[in-house]
Amino acid sequence: MAGEKIMMGLDIGSSWVRAVIGTVARDGTVMIDSICERPSEGVRGGAIVNIEQTLKTITSVITEAQLQAGADVQQIIIGVGGNHIEGIPSQGVVGINAKDQEIKREDIYRSLEVARAFELPLEREILHTLVQDFRVDGRDGIKDPIDMLGHRLESRVLVVTASSSICQNERKCIQRAGFQVQRLVAQQLADAEAVLSVEEKEMGTILINIGGGITNMIVYANGAPVFTGGVNLGGNHVTSDIAYILN
Ligand SMILES: Nc1ncnc2c1ncn2[C@@H]1O[C@H](COP(=O)(O)OP(=O)(O)OP(=O)(O)O)[C@@H](O)[C@H]1O
Ligand SMILES: [Mg+2]
Repeated sequence: MAGEKIMMGLDIGSSWVRAVIGTVARDGTVMIDSICERPSEGVRGGAIVNIEQTLKTITSVITEAQLQAGADVQQIIIGVGGNHIEGIPSQGVVGINAKDQEIKREDIYRSLEVARAFELPLEREILHTLVQDFRVDGRDGIKDPIDMLGHRLESRVLVVTASSSICQNERKCIQRAGFQVQRLVAQQLADAEAVLSVEEKEMGTILINIGGGITNMIVYANGAPVFTGGVNLGGNHVTSDIAYILN
């Protein structure tokens, strides 16, 4: 149908590689066309450690997902997680220059640019700039300042960063499989979008996803993400500890 867009998401996990193809309607709702999974190879602690092995699994999962969906999708959204994901709180302050002192969308973009403009440690890249809230002339907790009057706009954000080398390996693997990476998404954020309701985010929730090799976390308070991260420990460690004791 006109305005519809087909998208593919790929999760290269320590236990499973999973692909999902969905059709996004103009109003933003997603219809799932296919879900496909294969046992993972060459992935440890959420990072690719053997490109050749991972490449084989990725190619077969994507091919099957496309066959099931009857769609030829070239652009892929990749989920990345683990202990290399870090949420850094930051602020960006800008002055409102318009004569009528009305805050416009461009002012918000400028304040977010300022919030992002800190010195990023080597080997890190920014995945997301997640808005927590805004402060206008010292007034806290404003969710949408557009059209408000003010002299000083301050955005408070959580900048989600990731290891560049881990991200580059993911990109390289997808490109070698003959596809393009549309974007990388922190798995913590994808988890929250999938399972948390608006009320849960508002009330305050800690969301923990225990995978095979990694455990991802994200914390929401007052409707906004305030912390995200991960540890490279998962169900496989529990399984091997139990096996070790029983042997
Ligand atoms: N029903 C279950 N009860 C308990 N543990 C389970 C169950 N099903 C799967 N697991 C465990 O969950 C883990 C797999 O989780 P998942 O598929 O989320 O991992 P993954 O995404 O491949 O890996 P990761 O995200 O850590 O890179 C394995 O350790 C498996 O033993
Ligand atoms: Mg996982």
